[in-house]
Amino acid sequence: MMMMADMANPSGAISLVSASARSGKLSPSRYRSFCGISRRGISLRCGVAVEGGLEEPVSSSSRPRTKPPRLVGMGSKLVGCGSAVPKLQISNEDLARIVETSDEWISVRTGIRNRRVLSGDETLHGLASDAARNALSMAQVSPEDVDLVLVCTSTPENLFGDAARVQREIGCKNAWAFDITAACSGFVVGLVTGSRFIKGGGYQNVLVIGADALSQYVDWSDRGTCILFGDAAGAVLLQACPADEDAFLGFDLQSDGHGEKHLKANIEEGPGSENGSPRFPPTKPAYSCLQMNGKEVFRFAVRCVPQSIETALDESGLPPSSVNWLLLHQANQRIIDAVATRLQISADKVISNLANYGNTSAASIPLALDEAVRGGLIRSGDVIAMSGFGAGLTWGSAIVRWG
Ligand code: ACO
Repeated sequence: MMMMADMANPSGAISLVSASARSGKLSPSRYRSFCGISRRGISLRCGVAVEGGLEEPVSSSSRPRTKPPRLVGMGSKLVGCGSAVPKLQISNEDLARIVETSDEWISVRTGIRNRRVLSGDETLHGLASDAARNALSMAQVSPEDVDLVLVCTSTPENLFGDAARVQREIGCKNAWAFDITAACSGFVVGLVTGSRFIKGGGYQNVLVIGADALSQYVDWSDRGTCILFGDAAGAVLLQACPADEDAFLGFDLQSDGHGEKHLKANIEEGPGSENGSPRFPPTKPAYSCLQMNGKEVFRFAVRCVPQSIETALDESGLPPSSVNWLLLHQANQRIIDAVATRLQISADKVISNLANYGNTSAASIPLALDEAVRGGLIRSGDVIAMSGFGAGLTWGSAIVRWG
C-alpha cells in the first residue's frame, strides 16, 4: 500500500498518465504498484483512499461538473445491466434455404436455433447505446455521472473505434471512452479494465459494453461458420464501493498468438507491389471473412476455460461449490456443458441463451447476464463465474458478485 496524496489534482482528480509520466516521480515499479499491477499482470491488492493533489486535468476547463474527489483503492460493484438485439431473426430453417444444413444438425451440434442480424437502418453503435442506456436506467445513474465508457468490440463501424460515438449518443459528457478488441473475450477484458480504473484511478462509474456484428464478416455460403454467429450488444455499469465490499473477487486473463491461425479474419492483401517494385499509393485493404477451424477452437475452449476459471476462483479464495452461476461466452452448448462437467457445476447453475441468439462474440456474456437478471434467475449477492474465449487466441475469467 502507498499514500498517493501527491498524485491528485486540486479538484481531487488523479490522472494516471499525468501522475506517472509528467511528474516523473514514479519509477515503473512504483507506477505498477499504484495501479495495482504486478509483474505477472494486474493484481487485486487494495490501495489507500486519498484526496487532494497537484494538477488540473487537461480538459477540466470544458467540464461543467465539479467532480467528486477520486478515491483510489476502492472496490467495484455491478449495479446495472442492459442489452439490445436487432429485430431481424434468422432461424436454422432460414439458413437451410441458403446453405446445405438442417435445423437438426445445427441444434444438435451447437444448441443454436435462432440468431439476430443487423438489417435496415440498425447500427452496431445504436445497439451498444441502447444496451448502455438500459444498464444506466437499471442502476439509476445519470449519463453525466459516468467517468469512462469502454466499448468491447472486434467489429467497430469506425476503423478508429466506436466508443467515443457511443459516449456522445448516450450523453456521457463527463466521461472519456475507448475501444477494447479481444474478440469473444472482450467483455471480460473490459470488466477487468473497468474495475482497475476504479481501483487504481479513483473512477466512480464505468460503463462496460460488449457489442459485435459478426454477421458482417461471415461468409454466408460457408455452412461451417455462418450457422454460429449473431449480432447483439450488452452492457454493465461498474460502480465504486468500499474495498471490503468489492464484488470483483478474482480474475484471470490469457492469450496465445500461436493459435491465431485457428480463428481469424485477416486483411487479405498487403500494400502490394507492381512489376516487382513497391506500389504507391498502397491499395486499400479489405478483411477476409471469418475463418475458423471449429474442432481446434472447440478443443482449446474445453481445455483452457476450466483452467482459467479455476485460477480466478483460486485468486478469489472461493471453491467451485460457492459459484451460484456459470456464465460462459455463448459459443456452443457442448462447450458450455463440457466446462460445467469439468468444474462439477450442475446444469441448473449454468446460464445459457445461445439457442435464441447464437454466438454474439463480445456481447454474449452481458446479453445472457441481462436476461438472467431481468428474468429473476440471478439475484443480488449471487456469485457468478464468467469466462470468455475466442480469437487471438484469447481467454479470460472473472469471479463477480452481482448487485
Ligand atoms: N450443416 C451440416 N453439416 C455440416 C455443417 C452444417 N452447418 N457444418 C459442417 N458440416 C459437416 C462437415 O462438412 C463435416 O462433414 P464430413 O464429415 O462429411 O466432412 C461434418 O459436418 C463434421 O464437421 P465438423 O466441422 O467436424 O463438425 P463439428 O462437430 O466440429 O462441429 C462446430 C462444428 C459446430 C463449428 C464446432 O466445431 C464448434 O462449435 N467449434 C467451436 C467454435 C467456437 O467455439 N467458436 C468460439 C469463438 S468465436 C470467436 O471468437 C469470434
